[in-house]
Amino acid sequence: MIRLAILASGGGSNADAILRYFSGHPQIQIVLIACNREAAIVYQVAEYHCVESIQLSRERFQAGDGYLPVFQDKQVSGLILAGFLWKIPSVLIEAFPDRILNIHPALLPKFGGQGMYGLRVHEAVLAAHETESGITIHRVDEHYDNGDVVFQAHCPVNPHDTPNSLAQRVLQLEHQHYPPTIENYFTQQTNSELTLN
Ligand code: GAR
Repeated sequence: MIRLAILASGGGSNADAILRYFSGHPQIQIVLIACNREAAIVYQVAEYHCVESIQLSRERFQAGDGYLPVFQDKQVSGLILAGFLWKIPSVLIEAFPDRILNIHPALLPKFGGQGMYGLRVHEAVLAAHETESGITIHRVDEHYDNGDVVFQAHCPVNPHDTPNSLAQRVLQLEHQHYPPTIENYFTQQTNSELTLN
């Protein structure tokens, strides 16, 4: 079994889509949900799917051990960022080389970087009069929204779109494509590549 952890910051709709997709999956199991906020909906999502959840403290995550011992204890071999807004510390990048994926609600390299999350991304897409937007699933490195692109899907931007209506269209694409992309990405790496460093 390939054991993965989800890191989320609140809404939890991608976490829910991922947990549904991998329920009873023969090769991949989501074993932990880690969230950086108190009282976020994603804790209820974890409970619904009977998956353990933890709250991350900023100090330990960013300036301490990055919770690596917790991930190691649960034999986690990859991290899935699903609406997670903190930067990933180098202790985790080094422990999980090429095994951390993120989803961004736009077509990177445009409309990414620090502070570009949630509705701000869609506001920027509309302000730039783009005719299409979409999603980017990419490997995570030390910089925001910077690693190699693994998958992109496109959708139109309609003339009367608001940031909210565009967000809804993009979120549907996320739910549709993130789980199978995670599946392909992690099952195509051999088991030996997935052992912990
Ligand atoms: C998603 O649209 C995700 O792409 C975005 O936050 C939302 C989380 O929704 N992430 C970013 O903007 C990261 N830069 P969710 O909590 O319902 O899955």
